[in-house]
Amino acid sequence: MAGRIPEQFIDELMSRVDIVDIIDAYVPLRKGGRDYVACCPFHNEKTPSFTVSREKQFFHCFGCGAHGTAIGFLMDYDHMEFVEAVHELASRLGIDVPVAGGIHVAPPQTQDVYQVLEQAAKFYRRQLKEHAQSQRVIDYLRQRGLSGEVAADYGLGFSPPGWDTLVQALGKQAEQSLLDAGLLIEKPGAESGRRYDRFRDRVMFPIRDTRGRVVGFGGRVLGDDTPKYLNSPETAVFHKGRELYGLFEARKAVRKLSRLLVVEGYMDVAMLACHGIRYAVATLGTATTPEHLDRLFRQVPEVVFCFDGDRAGRDAAWRALENVLPVAGAGQQARFMFLPDGEDPDSLVRQEGQEVFEERIVNATPLSTFFFDALAARVDIQSIDGYVRLVELARPLLAKMQDGVLKREMVARLSERMRMSPQELQAELGGAAQALPKSGVLPVNKKHKQPSLVRTAITLLVQFPQLARTVSDVDVLSGLDRPGLALLMEMLELLGDRPHLNSAALLEHWRGRDEGRYLQQLVAQELLLAGEEQAENEFTAALERLRCQARDQRLDVLHGKSASPGGLSDDEKNELKQLHSGAARSI
Ligand code: GTP
Ligand code: MN
Repeated sequence: MAGRIPEQFIDELMSRVDIVDIIDAYVPLRKGGRDYVACCPFHNEKTPSFTVSREKQFFHCFGCGAHGTAIGFLMDYDHMEFVEAVHELASRLGIDVPVAGGIHVAPPQTQDVYQVLEQAAKFYRRQLKEHAQSQRVIDYLRQRGLSGEVAADYGLGFSPPGWDTLVQALGKQAEQSLLDAGLLIEKPGAESGRRYDRFRDRVMFPIRDTRGRVVGFGGRVLGDDTPKYLNSPETAVFHKGRELYGLFEARKAVRKLSRLLVVEGYMDVAMLACHGIRYAVATLGTATTPEHLDRLFRQVPEVVFCFDGDRAGRDAAWRALENVLPVAGAGQQARFMFLPDGEDPDSLVRQEGQEVFEERIVNATPLSTFFFDALAARVDIQSIDGYVRLVELARPLLAKMQDGVLKREMVARLSERMRMSPQELQAELGGAAQALPKSGVLPVNKKHKQPSLVRTAITLLVQFPQLARTVSDVDVLSGLDRPGLALLMEMLELLGDRPHLNSAALLEHWRGRDEGRYLQQLVAQELLLAGEEQAENEFTAALERLRCQARDQRLDVLHGKSASPGGLSDDEKNELKQLHSGAARSI
């Protein structure tokens, strides 16, 4: 969410900026039908599938699935932080950004930080060639089997021993920027004011963002000292949960990337590159985050995760899987590869060579297999209870997935194991498609199930927020048990308070939440609508159907209760009467 910047300000910003102007400054757009188009800046393509809608204030690429608001564009394309993107947009409009307490926050000064990081990388690289002790470092890298070519491609360097070599080299005037970049440490407390280099006597691995700018470093000791690796701290430009070591280099080395291998360490990436596998990336000492996954799947349709074969490795793989479920969409594959005990990609590729190692990659376990094997290991699959439990375990996980090929495949596989039809299982899982409306507006791919009423209503509402004004009396829906209904109610409530929000403003309210990702998918859909009037008709019809369902559901409950020994209270009898008359009216 908006953090300390008031939500209303984001709403206002979203209603005043024009995403077409914003994006056009980075990626020249041309008019194509109602929208604007260009070749997508997030993946390689020759024919434009990147579209920007002025109406929705939203961009969407039909090729790679990248999408978002103006804020999202600046974050993804220009690697800005949320707050920074808000400031950027505000400054273009010439307005100030308020914060909750009424004080203005200045946007982080990142220019100098990038500059000083670049200078530091250059300095470290030069030390690897020129420093009096550089032979010791070169020997270490040689002994590990690293080629000079790969060392150069990845920009490896050497941070010399000593406490102030970097600040000496870059000059006193760079001190503040060096602090901001995390390259200098300031002693707190009594000795405050004493500053010294963070990285000393280490092999330096520069971490670059997707545009190739150095954003941080990893540094390895040459011997057995601890800590073995030291990473840059979080700074204005470096976020561990976001960056992937080696992604820039992979994109540069492989013309058309089709697969990325996710490993744990810097050295793994570098050694795989030495053996011709130039599509490995490493998370930076953290677990794989949803942001990582989003970034990975924007680059390639297939991501293979490499883990240790031990317990910890399997646990880490499961955590990655949980994060993959909501993002893996149509045509995207995640697979899991487990290494023999005690090996890492570095040691293994040195023993086996490229061909054998790549065989492991090709044979990695598909997500669905790993999913069911891991779940089945937790229940007694032979017993009836075990089956029930399996569905229980699978339910919340499958619920996180987007509707699509992968989800249908998972449901199909689970139903096979359960010896049920996929439809029966869908019903068990609670995600039963309400086939009632043959809604003509949402795109229905032959293989896709009918979109549910709730989904139809949400889609129309996120694309035409003004529809909320046609709605009265939503409370009757609150008892209805349908996936997504809570989100629909939340949207209606918000729009009730703030009827002028546009699609982009609406999306910003759910930034960073699963619902936000879901809404972004829906806003990107092209509806088969003749005009706004039809949107209103469809929307009203969907809501009316939901109201009927809510009424029927409540009637069932009350009828059930009236047949029970306790019977109905007076209030409930009244309610029943009213519901009956309402139901009669609606027939
Ligand atoms: P080598 O010993 O050089 O082969 O490294 P490795 O990649 O095999 O190391 P390991 O499997 O121990 O660590 C994998 C990753 O975890 C590293 O690349 C670092 O990102 C991180 N890491 C390892 N040790 C440390 C440490 O002591 N401190 C921090 N902050 N991170 C570490
Ligand atoms: Mn290793």
